[in-house]
Order: sequence, then structure tokens, then C-alpha cells
Amino acid sequence: MKIAIMGAMPEEISPILEKIGSYKTTNYAGNKYYEASYKGIDLIIAYSKIGKVFSTLTAATMIEHFGAQKLLFSGVAGAISPTLKVGDLIVATKLSQHDLDITAFGHPYGYVPEGAVFIEADKQMIEMSKDVAKSMGKIVQEGIIATGDQFVANEDRKNWIGATFNADALEMEGGSVAVVCNALNIPFFILRAISDAADMDASFSFDEFLQTSAKESAEFVMNMVDKLAD
Ligand code: ADE
Repeated sequence: MKIAIMGAMPEEISPILEKIGSYKTTNYAGNKYYEASYKGIDLIIAYSKIGKVFSTLTAATMIEHFGAQKLLFSGVAGAISPTLKVGDLIVATKLSQHDLDITAFGHPYGYVPEGAVFIEADKQMIEMSKDVAKSMGKIVQEGIIATGDQFVANEDRKNWIGATFNADALEMEGGSVAVVCNALNIPFFILRAISDAADMDASFSFDEFLQTSAKESAEFVMNMVDKLAD
């Protein structure tokens, strides 16, 4: 079994690399990929760089070039739901692209022909995350994540995304990773820890909490990997 663990930024995967300790580094298509053997499973770990294009490239590379059979994403997100506070964890049940817009042709936001507004994450891993949360004594909210090539720091935009996609959190990679995994039949799991509230203070909050929230998410994802290795 080969599992991909992906983040968007160095801060999102460095706690994972620290835990694993030793790994082989390969440069490929402008990124570094880290391969390791961990508790009897092969891991391929990388951060993509921010946004839908880079995350698409990395997810596809992990699957098509490195042979990943499952993909887990760890990172941070902006909260839409008022029940999500900085440091809280959210597991994506399904994901959409909030900046995909051909509504001029009568289509709904987030939709292009032969695509879908929402892509569902792997139900088995979502189920497993409930046990992991229990064993860690953590509360993990399930919800819809909306993705776009925008750092949202605006209450109106955030509320529009929340209302249009019924989304609980937003970020910049999950929706594109979902498209790749869905197209290639790879079960995927997307976890995010909240770094900000996508409001006018978002950039300050993000800078302040990126590291601690990324670590929260990474720790949880590694507990998921431990369970997958059992
Ligand atoms: N990731 C974390 N916070 C975010 C925000 N406010 N907008 C987009 N992506 C984010």
C-alpha cells in the first residue's frame, strides 16, 4: 500500500517529515517529493505550493508518477461556519470550486459540463476519522469545503461562498485535489485545521496560527495513517 500525504505549504508537511525522521528526497516537476517506509506502508509526501493548479499537479504526480493508492491532505483553512474557531479541525465530506463560474451559460456556480459542483471524499476514511478523533480526545467537525484561487479576507465574499455552496470552510487546494483523485479513482481524505475566519483580520490570523494549526492537522493525519497501517 502506498499512501500520499499532501499539503500546500512547507509548514503543512514539516511536522509529518519530522515524525517520520528519514526519507528519500526526489526532485520532480518543480517540487520535492519525500518517500519513506512507515509502519509497513510506503509513504509519498509533498507540499504542492498554494492554489488549485499546483495542487492538481502534485496530486496527479503522486498518483501517476509515484503510484499512490490513497491520498490524505493536511493543512489549514479559513472558517465560514461560526462553530469553527482557530485550531478546530474539519473533515471534508465533499468539496467544490467556489471560483469556477460559467453562470453566463446558465450553469450553477462551481459547475462545468461533464464535471460536478461537489465531489465526495472517501466515506471509509471519514468513518475512520471518527475513531481517530475519539482516540485522540478531539472533536472533529464534518462539513463542506469550498476551494478557490483566492485568499479570502472579506466577510461578503466569505458569506457568499457559505450561502452558495453551503460551505463550512474555505481554502485553496482541496477542490482540485478532489477532482484529480475522483478522476483517477483514488480514495481521498481532506483535513484542515482553522487558521482564520476569512474576514478582514484573516491575513494576520493566518500568519499567527499557520504553524500551530498546521501541526494540529498533521498530527491528526498521522494518526489516520497509523490506523491505515494497522
Ligand atoms: N487557507 C486558510 N485561510 C484561508 C483563507 N482565508 N482563504 C483561502 N485559503 C485559506
